[in-house]
Amino acid sequence: MKIYNIAVIAGDGTGPEVIREGLKVLDAASIGKFKLALTHFPFGGEHYQKTGETLPDSAIQELRKFDAIYLGAIGHPDVKPGILEKGVLLKLRFSLDQYINLRPVKLYPGVDTPLKNKGPEHIDFVVVRENTEGLYCGAGGFLKKGTADEVAIQESINSRKGVERCLRYAFEYTRTRNRQKKLTLCGKTNVLTFAFDLWERTFHEVAKEYPDVKTDYAHVDATCMWMVKNPEWFDVIVTDNMFGDIITDLGAMIQGGMGIAAGGNIHPKGVSMFEPIGGSAPKYTGQNKINPLAAICAGGMMLDILDEKEVAQKIEQAVMKVTKEKLKSLSAGQMGYTTTQVGDLVAEQVV
Ligand code: IPM
Ligand code: MN
Repeated sequence: MKIYNIAVIAGDGTGPEVIREGLKVLDAASIGKFKLALTHFPFGGEHYQKTGETLPDSAIQELRKFDAIYLGAIGHPDVKPGILEKGVLLKLRFSLDQYINLRPVKLYPGVDTPLKNKGPEHIDFVVVRENTEGLYCGAGGFLKKGTADEVAIQESINSRKGVERCLRYAFEYTRTRNRQKKLTLCGKTNVLTFAFDLWERTFHEVAKEYPDVKTDYAHVDATCMWMVKNPEWFDVIVTDNMFGDIITDLGAMIQGGMGIAAGGNIHPKGVSMFEPIGGSAPKYTGQNKINPLAAICAGGMMLDILDEKEVAQKIEQAVMKVTKEKLKSLSAGQMGYTTTQVGDLVAEQVV
């Protein structure tokens, strides 16, 4: 039987609770088909407070040997912002060159959206976010820091190679998704006339190789507007790191909230990492109230990338059945079930 080696970084806050349910579902779904060999890593805020270590280079080397990484949440209320984000999460994405952040925005049946008169038939698109460049590179610095003349510079790095590989992934993905076969570039060509000039030129060049894929363009501000007003216009959106970060939080809200939003940090030929995108939710830690569906969906995405497509689909179907028939709400503490019970409900459906 096929064995997949999975590195588990449950992380902080509610991370361990939701990962536990995700693993429960993966376990149930895998029976008789394949095995997951799990190795747990302790990284996150608590580990940092105990040891002063974020994510050592030796761990990166070790993580390279796995088939995938399953991540809960990184973030601790007592650790200064930036340390864990850069030291753990972004370090993982960058060192493993996970250049795609894939974030589906899909409204499941039975789930409330804040958008009036919109249902599951209107909200079903995917954001392909560039995940290793842009404003996230950490390029820049201070001049005259701490003085009245202080200047702070934060540069957006966009390489032809980086942009092109992201666009190619997005075209391929749009093709295999096989819905509207429409790829929208989200940028800001009217103001960021260097960065998005490169994106736009590369977009049209690569598009020639995909005549079956329709192309479209929207500025990032307009993208936000259309996501609220006409989300059904979108099939796949491709964008840079910063814009992708922002619009996928908006996306998470229209699909029912952070309780359901999952994402994959992908290197198509390397080690990819899957996570619920909601964060560590410290105020719900240890209460068995948080919604584990995002983590469960992230687990499903992980199987999809591992090419266990059938089982991945089974997990998504199970989640849809549970949102449709069982949960009162997706919000923590208001689901009508505990975290553990929601995990059980999905697990029952996938055996
Ligand atoms: C996300 C998060 C991260 C990001 C933070 C925690 C560094 O907001 O995964 O979207 O900005 O990418
Ligand atoms: Mn974000």
